[in-house]
Amino acid sequence: MQHPSTPSGEGADAVHRIVVVGAGAMGSQIGMVCALAGFGATVTDVEPAALDRARDQLQQRMDRDVAKGRREIADVRAAFDRLTLSTDLAAAAASADYVIEAAVEKLDVKRALFADLDRAAPPHTILATNSSSIVSSRLADATGRPDRVCNLHFFNPALVMACVEVVRGPATSDQTVDVSVSLARALGKVPVVLGKEIPGFVANRILNAVRDEAIFLLENDVASVEDIDTACRTALGYPMGPFELMDLTGIDIGYLTKIDRFTESGDPRDRPSRTVTALVERGELGRKTGRGWYSYDDTGSRSPRSTQELTGGT
Ligand code: 3HC
Repeated sequence: MQHPSTPSGEGADAVHRIVVVGAGAMGSQIGMVCALAGFGATVTDVEPAALDRARDQLQQRMDRDVAKGRREIADVRAAFDRLTLSTDLAAAAASADYVIEAAVEKLDVKRALFADLDRAAPPHTILATNSSSIVSSRLADATGRPDRVCNLHFFNPALVMACVEVVRGPATSDQTVDVSVSLARALGKVPVVLGKEIPGFVANRILNAVRDEAIFLLENDVASVEDIDTACRTALGYPMGPFELMDLTGIDIGYLTKIDRFTESGDPRDRPSRTVTALVERGELGRKTGRGWYSYDDTGSRSPRSTQELTGGT
């Protein structure tokens, strides 16, 4: 489907200003990726404190890259000049060509955001979601532009991981897919296009299968968190084991994804495991809270936790 207000034949050239909604670990790094690639980028959040935190963390990350000779200081300065942090979503969306929503993994929150974005953004603007699992057709009908809605899914840490999944919903136009693929390339990423929707897309479905098995092995006292991670790193060549990775991405993200999947399917296999549920209920969400499958000190160094402590010995 071609929308008359979207010029045909244009890829990322049609995109000048990008708005990223949500200043968490993903949103802030996606905004920085955009700014580093030369786009004007605004990262928005309802919480001013989240914006301050995002700026500090990005500054530290960039300082480190400059100190290690990975980036030129002039490029980093120019990128920060192109990056705006704001609590005013409507004002930001009004001048956006492309919006990447990276807010909390809750359908009702995302639907409300998409309705707001639809009202605030110009007609040509593409509204994409970085959701880990929710397919864009569940958001597209909250807008009057379902042809300009899709998934654009980055991986954590977004400054480092190359893949970006572009997922076409049933109403997504060819133009929206083309612009999204060109944009991913312009951001220095490797786009993987899914021809049809499936919750969790490609990479997270594979990752979730590995996670489920790792948790099964832990809960059944077969091996410890550390040993399962070690096996994945040293036998399978994974850069990180599944527990280390859950601590990096946030245990709550996987939990909310499962809750959403279970609400949709009613299939008990989609329910979050009892150990994950207990961790989330205790607020032990991984690196960001200092505790998850491992414990972390102020410097980020980690130490193991006993299987008994994690699983309650059941
Ligand atoms: N943010 C930005 N850059 C980071 C980073 C972070 N959180 N962590 C590491 N890096 C970069 C830094 O440049 C770092 O170098 P530095 O420490 O000297 O500054 C460099 O990566 C190397 O980091 P480390 O030496 O600490 O560790 P590694 O060599 O293991 O690399 C890694 C880190 C790139 C994260 C690597 O371990 C890896 O690829 N892990 C797997 C990540 C993965 O699977 N991501 C996908 C998760 S699923 C997902 O995101 C889906 C979503 O929907 C939830």
